[in-house]
Parts: sequence; C-alpha cells; structure tokens
Amino acid sequence: MTTSKKDILPLIGFDHIEMYVGNAKQAAHFYQTAFGFQPVAYAGPETGLRDRSSYVLRQHKIQLVLTSPISPESEIAEHVKRHGDGVKMLALEVEDAAQSWQDTTSRGARSYMEPKTLKDDEGEVRVSGIYTYGETVHLFVERKNYKGPFMPGFETWDPEYKPEPVGLLVVDHCVGNVGWGKMDEWCKFYREVMGFDQLVSFDDKDISTDYTALMSKVMTNGNEKVKFPINEPAEGKKKSQIEEYLDFYHGAGVQHIALLTGNIIETVTAMRSRGVDFLFVPNTYYDDLKERVGEIDEEVEALQKLGILVDRDEDGYLLQLFTKPVLDRPTVFFEIIQRKGARSFGKGNFKALFEAIEREQARRGNL
Ligand code: FE2
Repeated sequence: MTTSKKDILPLIGFDHIEMYVGNAKQAAHFYQTAFGFQPVAYAGPETGLRDRSSYVLRQHKIQLVLTSPISPESEIAEHVKRHGDGVKMLALEVEDAAQSWQDTTSRGARSYMEPKTLKDDEGEVRVSGIYTYGETVHLFVERKNYKGPFMPGFETWDPEYKPEPVGLLVVDHCVGNVGWGKMDEWCKFYREVMGFDQLVSFDDKDISTDYTALMSKVMTNGNEKVKFPINEPAEGKKKSQIEEYLDFYHGAGVQHIALLTGNIIETVTAMRSRGVDFLFVPNTYYDDLKERVGEIDEEVEALQKLGILVDRDEDGYLLQLFTKPVLDRPTVFFEIIQRKGARSFGKGNFKALFEAIEREQARRGNL
C-alpha cells in the first residue's frame, strides 16, 4: 500500500482517454464493433467546431474520445502526421480543475491549457491541462455541475448501430513509453508534481532481463484508481520493443491502455469473434502454467484456446492478454485484464512468454 501522506493532487479517477486519429468516423465504428463501446456524444462542424470532429464512446465507466482534424493546419493534423493515431489526452476527473492546474504548474508542470469554464444548458464543466511525457496531456476535468452527455459543445449521438458491450468496465492502467534513461525523470514528475507514489509490489528488476529489454516502474495516485506504469528501453539480446515504439511514434507516448473486465473469458471470446487481433501465445506457454501460478478458478484449456495469460503475485492472480497494435505503426495497443486479487501488472508473463517461444523454436529444431 502507498503511504498516507497528504494527497497533493486529489484525483477522483480517469475521466476519459482521447485519441487523435486520422479518421474518427471510421475509428468510432471499429471501437463500437470490435470493442463493444456505445455511442454517447458527437461534436464537429454540425455543432459549430471548425477544426475537428470528435466521437465520444462509453463502456461502463470507460470513456473514449476519438478526434480527427478537419483542416491540415490544426495541431491535431500535426499530431496525427507525426505520431500516427495516438493517445493525446489522459483526462483525469478532479474536484477543482483550477486548483489542480495551479498546484501542478507551480510545482513545475508545463501548462497545456489554463483553467477555463465551458457552459451550455446542461451546466458547466471546468477544464485545465498540463503536459506529461512527449506531447501527451493530462486534462483536469471538473464535471460535478454538469448533466449533459459529455461536455458543453457536444450533442447526443444516438445511431441505430449499437453492437453489444463486451464486458469492459474501467481503465485499469495506462502505460507510457519514454526515451533511454528517462524513466526515473518521469517517475519523479509523477511523484513531485502529481503527488503519486511508486507501487512497491512491482519489482522493476524482475523484468529488466535479456529477454524483455525494458525497465518499468508503476506510479499510482493516492486512491490507486489512476496507475501509470512508465517504461524505458533497455539493452537486450534484441532491439527493445520500447525503442521500436519510440522510433515509430517519434517520441514518448502512451504504449497501451489496459481495460478491466469481470470475466475475461467472455470478453475475449466476444472480441475475437468481432475480429480483434491478439498477440500470439504459443501452446507451450501452458505447459508449466499450473506449476507457475498454482490453483486457479479457470480451466487451463479455456485459457489456452483464447490465448489468455496468467500471473500471480503475493495478493492473488491476474489474467491478461494484449491486442496487436490497433494501427499500422507498431505503437499503441490495448490490454484486457481481469484481477483476482493481484495488484501487479503481469511481469512474470514476459519471461514465461519468451521461454514458451523458445520451446516452440526448440521443437522445430532451431535452437
Ligand atoms: Fe499493462
């Protein structure tokens, strides 16, 4: 558990995640169809915006906003040109957006947006923002005086096309990739500017091996609703996957968004049937599963069929798997996770997956 020192930046939790994408209309269709997100709100030229279109989607408490540029001059167009589709805003809900901005900027954060109040007939939302790694932004959202579908300026979006949800509930964590030697710098930012603590249950030494070639630390806010693991590349036998991300994203940014489900078998069955591509897990991964994680409630056969990974820590176990990147650059992907007590992030799976792949290689006589 984290320390009980005064919370210098009280956060209610994640508010929404906004991605800047090349074609928000088509991306919205993908996240509805493949991930089961429900349509909520829309803003664009029809609602008076000149430079962008935004679609707001929701599944239980996860709010996803997809935004595209409409003209080539906008900062959104620049963002998409440089990074490809990527996460721009990790928006956090706060009690007081002005105070959050004042406190964080006075502690050294770079301002993205001074506090402002947005109003319409449904009430008001106060927003402000600061930069974190790369061009990624933490927007502070104060929405206690608002009843509308999302924010002032957005209208309800209620198309007929509404595929069923797949059981995704909340954002579990969002991982950032930063450059060589920058992990500690950004952990310091989260500690000193945002008042986060490092989650001690996650031992960064365990995954800093030849196999994985990355280092990672997990920062969390006081109520542990907001968790930001930070990765940096490390020297290994092969090029670090973090370095590959940095090359193709052209800088630091969000690597993956982990979404929590209460039943990973149902969720992944639905997502696979809707065409979501997940990382390949060799059958050999399941050879030593029972020895590695002990007794679990799920049938190993069912997990193997779906390629679901399992890891255990001192508090329990977790089930997880990762999508392939959701765009053509090898950058942003999603994780689906179910927690059965475990508070960690699946570090045991790095090594287990690597060893499973080596066993496959050995079977083919190539090792
Ligand atoms: Fe993760």
